Amino acid sequence: MSGQWWQRGVVYQVYPRSFGDSNGDGVGDLQGIRQRLDHLEWLDVDAVWLSPVFRSPMADFGYDVADYCDVDPLFGTLDDLDTLIADLHRRGMRLLLDFVPNHTSDQYPWFIDARSSRTAEHRDWYIWRDPAAGGGPPNAWQSAFLGSAWEWDGQTGQYYFHSFLKEQPDLDWTNPEVRAAMTDVLRFWFRRGVDGFRVDVVNLLAKGPELADATHPDPHDRWGDEPAIHPLMRELRVVADEFDDRVLIGEIWLPPAELVTFYGKELDELHLPFNFGLLELEQWQAQTVHEAIVAYEKALPPKAWPNWVLGNHDRRRLATRVGHAQARVAAMLLLTLRGTPTLYYGDEIGMVEVELPREVWRDPQGLRGGQTRDGCRTPMRWDDSALAGFTTGTPWLPLDQPAGTDVATRRDDPASMLSLYRALLRLRRAEPALNLGDWHDLGRAGSAIAYMRISGEPGGRRFLVCLNLAGEPSPLPEAATSLRGEIVVSTLPTQGRARFEGRRDLAADEGLVIRLD
Ligand code: GLC
Repeated sequence: MSGQWWQRGVVYQVYPRSFGDSNGDGVGDLQGIRQRLDHLEWLDVDAVWLSPVFRSPMADFGYDVADYCDVDPLFGTLDDLDTLIADLHRRGMRLLLDFVPNHTSDQYPWFIDARSSRTAEHRDWYIWRDPAAGGGPPNAWQSAFLGSAWEWDGQTGQYYFHSFLKEQPDLDWTNPEVRAAMTDVLRFWFRRGVDGFRVDVVNLLAKGPELADATHPDPHDRWGDEPAIHPLMRELRVVADEFDDRVLIGEIWLPPAELVTFYGKELDELHLPFNFGLLELEQWQAQTVHEAIVAYEKALPPKAWPNWVLGNHDRRRLATRVGHAQARVAAMLLLTLRGTPTLYYGDEIGMVEVELPREVWRDPQGLRGGQTRDGCRTPMRWDDSALAGFTTGTPWLPLDQPAGTDVATRRDDPASMLSLYRALLRLRRAEPALNLGDWHDLGRAGSAIAYMRISGEPGGRRFLVCLNLAGEPSPLPEAATSLRGEIVVSTLPTQGRARFEGRRDLAADEGLVIRLD
């Protein structure tokens, strides 16, 4: 088999607070994840990405790190993490951690030192500015969590810069000492056996010349074309390449043309800049989906490996965005496109966004006036008991989900979302055409799209994928109608294996994977 593991494989994101709680405090932990590895192995994923488990005051639930090289007691110990890595490796799976390089917690010893005086050793590890000429913040830059990106520090008489909460001061990546310390963090984890990182808001590391004055309503969109970013990406990549088989996945919210520059001209930057093209769609329709796929495939430089995402801890749940019937079609799309898919925990059982009353919101983004992200972070449901097999205590967020939304119930039901995910994952693993093969667009007709996946191996197989992205019947793209083969997976549970010949249309919400003759 050729290709790197992260090209053939599938990534599964775990939000550690919400996967399994082993000690009854209502918050998930590392032991709780270890207890659920059977599920991940059974489901047939390749790598587990953990949202941050480092020491943190949890102002942004771990995305405010107070020690990059230790585990927060809420989640367990460094030993627990070592054991989790060993367990995963024994089962043939990998572990990815979440590297948060743009900012630390204001409780990080570096920042505590930095704000102690203007001459402190770590002062210029962060970004400090004098007030504007007439007083007030140095410029109009806004934080992603609303309000000014500048916080006044009375003791030293300057403002510091924060792209997110004031409890998350931005590091100054133009400082070589910062870069050296941060790349050593990567080495620390690579030596412990971590297989790679998802890198948080990585395009924000370069701020542009002198933090030029402008109003930037959404920091995720800033600095897209900032050339200073690319040398930083190469520095991270050099470190990953000091070790075997490691992967760097970057969180970057930019349109395809800018996103793909993060592979690097010589493919010497990030292995996989996250592609949120499908996650960001406002309308889930054949036309928008097809355009997003084509635009991304077209923008990809030769040899750059694609990837796809349909859910994460920052966006509303897939089943809520597109509805249950279309969530099945979306799963088939995600797992048959060319490129590494990342699954979000709970999407495989069709978990929905939980609409929470304000009193129980925990997410600082929501509490500060933005959209709350709590509804997509609620605990995984393992069974249909009152506490869902998640905890023996009081869950940190409610467990509410429609009846039957749990692993135990869905596992034995061949018609369930979970069974569909597993069938697709197993097929994808077994068939080189589906994991490493080429992608060949067959276009769109009505609300349906079709494409082929073709193995490059001699005598390799070809698959046809036909997806109806709406709840009414649709004609098939003309190019698909003359193809013949056997239907191996269908989104419509009642359909058994059948021949695909002479079909000219798809039923509502029908998706088919067909092994061509
Ligand atoms: C990323 C994370 C998000 C976090 C933010 C600040 O966007 O995905 O959850 O709040 O960075 O670290």
